Amino acid sequence: MCGIFGYIGSQNPVKMALQGIKRLEYRGYDSAGIAGVDAGKLRFCKEAGKVAMLEQEVEKAHMHLEVSIAHTRWATNGAPTKENAHPHLDSAESVAVVHNGIIENYPELRETLIKQGVTFVSETDTEIVPHLIASLYQGDFLEAVRKAVSMLHGAYALAIIHRDHPDCIIAVAHESPLAVGIGSNEAFISSDSQAFANYTRDVLFLSNGEIAVVKRGHYEVFDVSNQQITRDLQRIESKPQVSLKGEYEHYTLKEIHEQPTVLQNAFAGRLREEYGTVQFEELKFDVNDLLSIERILILGCGTSWHAGYLAAYMIEDIARIPVQVEISSEFRYKNPIVPHGTFVIAISQSGETADTLAATRELQAKGAKVLTLCNVHGSTMDRESDACVYLRAGPEVGVCSTKAFTNQIVILFLFTVMLARMRHLNRQEGQAFLQAVKALPQQVQAVLDMEKHIADIAKRYAHHDNFFFLGRRYMYPASLEGALKLKEISYINANGYPAGEMKHGPIALINENCPTVALCANKQTFGKLLNNLMEVKARNGKVIAIAPEGTEGLSDIADEVIWVPETIDELASVPTSVAAQLFAYYVALERGAEIDQPRNLAKSVTVE
Ligand code: F6R
Repeated sequence: MCGIFGYIGSQNPVKMALQGIKRLEYRGYDSAGIAGVDAGKLRFCKEAGKVAMLEQEVEKAHMHLEVSIAHTRWATNGAPTKENAHPHLDSAESVAVVHNGIIENYPELRETLIKQGVTFVSETDTEIVPHLIASLYQGDFLEAVRKAVSMLHGAYALAIIHRDHPDCIIAVAHESPLAVGIGSNEAFISSDSQAFANYTRDVLFLSNGEIAVVKRGHYEVFDVSNQQITRDLQRIESKPQVSLKGEYEHYTLKEIHEQPTVLQNAFAGRLREEYGTVQFEELKFDVNDLLSIERILILGCGTSWHAGYLAAYMIEDIARIPVQVEISSEFRYKNPIVPHGTFVIAISQSGETADTLAATRELQAKGAKVLTLCNVHGSTMDRESDACVYLRAGPEVGVCSTKAFTNQIVILFLFTVMLARMRHLNRQEGQAFLQAVKALPQQVQAVLDMEKHIADIAKRYAHHDNFFFLGRRYMYPASLEGALKLKEISYINANGYPAGEMKHGPIALINENCPTVALCANKQTFGKLLNNLMEVKARNGKVIAIAPEGTEGLSDIADEVIWVPETIDELASVPTSVAAQLFAYYVALERGAEIDQPRNLAKSVTVE
C-alpha cells in the first residue's frame, strides 16, 4: 500500500508531486506529505488525512522546490498521525525518504542507531532509512544508499533525495512495485505508472533490489551486487482512464450502476456463439496447454477470492476438473504440492496484491503456468503472469469492489464453458450457457430498477449492528461477498455463512436484533435453505430474502423480499450480488459512513 511519487524536470515539482499522489490515493489515504530541495535546503510539509488537506498546507507554506518526492500513506507501523506521515528525514535534515512496504528488521536497526545517538521522531519503520543513509554518507549519495539498502530486510520501494544533490532522485525497489518514467528533460517515479502516463509512457519497472539514479530525462540502474546494468524502457500502451462521479453521490454507487454496461464488455467479442464456446484473444496458451489441465488452483484475496470460490463450483460442475481455491495470504506460507497438470488462475482486480503476487511467483518457480484475471493493464501481475485476461470493468475507484466482482464471475464462467467445450460439453449445452450470460446485463438492470425498494429496506434495518448472510452452494460465496460489502462500507459486523452450518454453533447469535440476509437463488438447494431459515425464524431472527422472481415458500418466512430475475444457478450470484451491493450501500448511507474511502482500507494492498 502507500503511494510514492517523485518528480524532477522543468515543470513545477510541487504541483506535479501533489497531482501524482492524488492519483495514488487509492493506495492509502490516512496521511500525506511532500519534500524537496530548495536552494541547498530540504523543505517538507506533511499532514494527517487526505491529500486535499496536505494541499491546503502546501499552499499556505508557499513551497518552491527544485526536485520533489511525495507520499500518501496506509499506516502499517505507527498510527496515522502527522509525525508518522512520510517523507521521513534524518536529524540534520539532509536526506528525505518516502517508502512503500515494510522493513522487517527495523527494530534492530533502530536500536543500533539509537546507541549511536540518533533521536527518532516517529514510530515508523521508514525513519531508519534516512538516518542510516545520513550516517553512511561521505559525499557519495549513491554509495550511501547502496550501503544502507544492503542492511534492509523486507519489502520496500523507496524514493530518496539529498539536499546536496538536487539534480537526482534515487529509487530503490525490492518486492514492492516502483516505476520510473522518462520524459524529455524530465523524469518521474511512482508506485503506479498510470500516475504519470499523461506525461510519458516510457517506463522502467524496478525489482529485486535494483537501484536507479534518476535525473532529468536520464537514468542509470544498478543491481543488488552494485553492477551497473542495462535496462531498456518499456512503452506502456494504455492511457490513464479517468472516472468521474457524474450525477452520483459516490463512486461506489456509480460503479454499481455501471454493471449492465461493463458486464456487456466482459463478454463482448469473446463469444463464439455458433460453436457454443468462448475465445479470449489474450489467452496465449495453445490448445494442448488447456487440454492437458488436470487440476486447477485458484488464488485471490477478499472479493477476488470470493469470485474464485464461485469459480471452483462452476469449473467442477461444468468442466469436471478438480479445483482447489486458496486465500493467497495463507497459501504463500504453505509448502504447496503442485502436481503435474496443475493450472493456476490468479484473480486480482488491481493486479498488485502482494500476497497473490508472492503466491503466483512461488508457483511459477515450481513450473506452473499462471493465468491472471485482472482489471489493470500493465499491473505487476499482468506483466509477470503467463497470460492475462482483462476484466474490462473500467477503473474502479470506490475502495469496495463491485463491478470488478461481477465481471470476474462472468469471465470465470466463460473460461469454464471454454474448458468444458474442449472436453465433454456439446454445442447446444454451450450455446445455452452463452445465452444465460447474454441475458445478464438486462437482469442486472432490473435489479438496479428496484433501487428504491432496496433502499427502503436498508433504511429500516440500518440500526442493527450484527447481520448474517446465509446461502448454500453458489449462494455461499455470494453470502461471503454480501457480508464483506456490508462490513467494509457500513462498519457493521456481518457474517457470511453456509446456511447448513448455522446449527453447528453460529445460530446461538440469532435473535430479534440480528437480521439474516438469505440468498435464495440456488435452486438445487433451496428446499434445504428454507429449513435453515425456519430455524432462524423460530429464534425470532428477521429474514431479508434475496430471491429469484416466482420463488415459492418464502411468504411465511421472509420479513422482506428483494426479487431478482431468475437465471441459472451458476450465474445467480450476479443479480443477487448487485442487490446485496445496493443493500450495503444504502445501509452505509443511512449510517453516515464514508463510502468511497472506508476507514482503514486501501484499494491496492501491496503489503503482506
Ligand atoms: C473488497 C475488496 C478487497 C479486494 C482485495 C483483493 O471490496 O475490494 O477485498 O478484493 O483486497 O484485491 P485485488 O482484487 O486487487 O487483488
